[in-house]
Amino acid sequence: MLRALTAAFAALLLASCQTEPAAPAAETPQVAPILDTPDAVDPYSYAKPLDARVANVDLDLALDFDAKRVSGTAALDVIARPGIREVILDSKGLDIGGVTDSEGKPLKWTLGAVDPAKGAPLNVALPGDGKQRIIIRYNSKPDAAALQWLTPEQTAGKKYPYLLSQGQPTLNRTWIPTQDSPGIRQTWTAKVTAPEPLKIVMSGERLTPDGEPAGDGRRAFRFRMDKPVAPYLIAIAAGDLAFRELGPRTGVWTEPVMLDRAAAELADTEKMVEAAEKLYGPYRWGRYDVIVLPPSFPYGGMENPTLTFLTPTFIAGDKSLVGLVAHELAHSWSGNLVTNATWADSWLNEGFTSYFENRIMEALYGAGRAKQEEALSVDEMEKAFREEGQNGPNTRLHLAKEEASPEGGAGGIVYDKGATFLRTVERIVGRERFDAWLRSYFDRYAFQPMTSAKFLADFRKNLVKGDAELEKKLLLDQWVYEPGLPANVARPDPAAFAEVDKSVAAFNAGGGAPNGFGDWTTAERIRFITSLPRKLPTARLDELEAKLRLNEAGNNEVLFAWLQLAVANRYDPAVPALDKFISTQGRRKFVRPLITALAEDQQWGRPIAARIYARTRGSYHAVTTSDLDKLGLNSGAKSTNL
Ligand code: BES
Ligand code: ZN
Repeated sequence: MLRALTAAFAALLLASCQTEPAAPAAETPQVAPILDTPDAVDPYSYAKPLDARVANVDLDLALDFDAKRVSGTAALDVIARPGIREVILDSKGLDIGGVTDSEGKPLKWTLGAVDPAKGAPLNVALPGDGKQRIIIRYNSKPDAAALQWLTPEQTAGKKYPYLLSQGQPTLNRTWIPTQDSPGIRQTWTAKVTAPEPLKIVMSGERLTPDGEPAGDGRRAFRFRMDKPVAPYLIAIAAGDLAFRELGPRTGVWTEPVMLDRAAAELADTEKMVEAAEKLYGPYRWGRYDVIVLPPSFPYGGMENPTLTFLTPTFIAGDKSLVGLVAHELAHSWSGNLVTNATWADSWLNEGFTSYFENRIMEALYGAGRAKQEEALSVDEMEKAFREEGQNGPNTRLHLAKEEASPEGGAGGIVYDKGATFLRTVERIVGRERFDAWLRSYFDRYAFQPMTSAKFLADFRKNLVKGDAELEKKLLLDQWVYEPGLPANVARPDPAAFAEVDKSVAAFNAGGGAPNGFGDWTTAERIRFITSLPRKLPTARLDELEAKLRLNEAGNNEVLFAWLQLAVANRYDPAVPALDKFISTQGRRKFVRPLITALAEDQQWGRPIAARIYARTRGSYHAVTTSDLDKLGLNSGAKSTNL
């Protein structure tokens, strides 16, 4: 019996997916396979999952807003190969109090040397053979990079503190001691307490909607994720939260004063889920809720399962930036169901998702809007090629070991070249055939890790099917493994921005700012601003500002495009708007390029950057400060985040 069990566990551990798994939704395996090919080895984790891997995590934690820490226990179910006596976990800055087996018997553990990128390995001696449970008592440090503890003043309501987390790519090891690698999927549960009247939400099924009394003026909230997920997808937020239904299985959480605006912007969410299902198969996660976070959230969005995290900066009043929601929703398939095994293949998450996002936008808002957004994405890709060099090593989709950072690669490559590749394939093989394959890919690999090589093998086996002529047209390996842009690239429809491009040409020929700008779509306004020459005389910027009132743009993407142009031209009249923009939100995509461009302009910009950053740094998430600190603006002040 024992041998049979051990053999079964070994088989699970080693299931290498060389065999085609047919995993229909109803039979989601509790223990997901680990890939055993060299390209699936994650250099940013200490774990050796083929020896011993975590299959489930049970968290029992208390939130301490004064001390800025979570404390409690993580009970891990570990599956080990016969003869393996230890399990290696990832940790970064955790205070480990002790480790026991399920009966409370102490287990030996050691923390290894700290690596700045990976943190430190936490080695725990296993109590026995096969499947076993270890319990780690610990607390996080106040500077845990995944967590941001906001004071009441940093929230919209100004009355209560707030906590938000960001796990991707390798931050969750600062608050959860587990194997923090996208190829090691884990189920999880959590019981977390917070002081009244705060509410807690997490990226799993809510078992106690209103919480339960936990003594000492605290409430406990319980959650469950019974599908194996990559550990970067475990997320938490806590604060003065209110909820409003958007549809039968969709809803929005946010601070009460934000609820009306957020719900109005998100009114199409249920329709997006329906459109996504129609394209690529069932939504397998139960509910799709979103939380609109305080403005310090460092990303536009994060695809935490069952609960997408969103920046409030996407709220424009006219749903013009809800492509963000389509994107995070699409990750429920590309990323959360089928997951890059390592960050060197993050294009498998982000490129597929950017393609899928555009298909959702087309389904909801029509081909015109989708084509404009596609053309903007191609603009981003071209910008990345200019910055990285047309054949620069970082223009590969699958990043070579030397180039790979846990952040993935340049956004214009991973997201936009990735999406352009899939669009190229779609146009060559035909939409119907491509969609059928993509839908079946999500079915075949649901709840499993993926690599570039595995994707290519599957595409060849199930779509190309030995058609030599088709194979020749597709240039698959060139797209995935080579730098640069293959010759068969599908170009966006030039008609998408024909009118805007005429206005740009007219302005460049000495004409004035365009008429009717206020009635243009958001994509058209962005295209106009980003197409202008990067260097413009002050008088020309004055003309634009006088007519288009860009300093007052209510749409944050339009404002961002304008402020970049303003900084490139030392345009003083934009500085108050710039200051306000950088001071009132901490989204890295907006804050980093602006402060960096200022800092690199030694004479005009750097003093402005230093003045603003000294004031704003304390309100940014570690994700945002960890890059900006490298600019040396806060000379003398030591980074507390790494
Ligand atoms: N998963 C990403 C966010 C992310 C990427 C976190 C890499 C950590 C490392 C998310 O889905 C995303 O792509 N967000 C974008 C929005 C999107 C519309 C391009 C963002 O935050 O801007
Ligand atoms: Zn994404």
